[in-house]
Amino acid sequence: MKSSVFDCSVIELAKNHHQKGNISVVENNAEVPFSINRIYYLYDIPGGEDRGAHAHIELKQLIIAASGSFDIILDDGKVKRSITLNRPYIGLLVVPGIWRELINFSSGAICMVLASEVYDEKDYIRDYNEFLNLKNNV
Ligand code: TYD
Repeated sequence: MKSSVFDCSVIELAKNHHQKGNISVVENNAEVPFSINRIYYLYDIPGGEDRGAHAHIELKQLIIAASGSFDIILDDGKVKRSITLNRPYIGLLVVPGIWRELINFSSGAICMVLASEVYDEKDYIRDYNEFLNLKNNV
């Protein structure tokens, strides 16, 4: 829980050009510093809808705008950082202990998340005051 927003980093994946289109690749412990145990993606997000608004205790994630764009607000309880994702070869690595909100989804946006662990509701902190208490007591 001691993490700061500056421990989160933007990763540029190789964009392999091909006359029929491009391909980018993410492999375990190579482009991401963890083993991927789950992939999920958000799509058909209604206009004006926000996602996220929680933190994780253990989970590491690489978040990619596979299509379209959106903004991610990172918050470590002291500092906030806003990052726009709008290219399918750019990923945002989010470390544990960071509150995140996903906003400003473009029409048709697809948010793909490569995650270090399988889904576990116990890994979530969904109450912002609880999050602040945890951050202030480490
Ligand atoms: P949540 O992680 O809160 O969504 P977001 O951060 O995108 O706004 O998850 C939304 C719902 O989906 C919640 O009821 C839990 C469920 N869910 C799963 O069942 N498995 C998963 O892998 C994820 C990410 C969510």
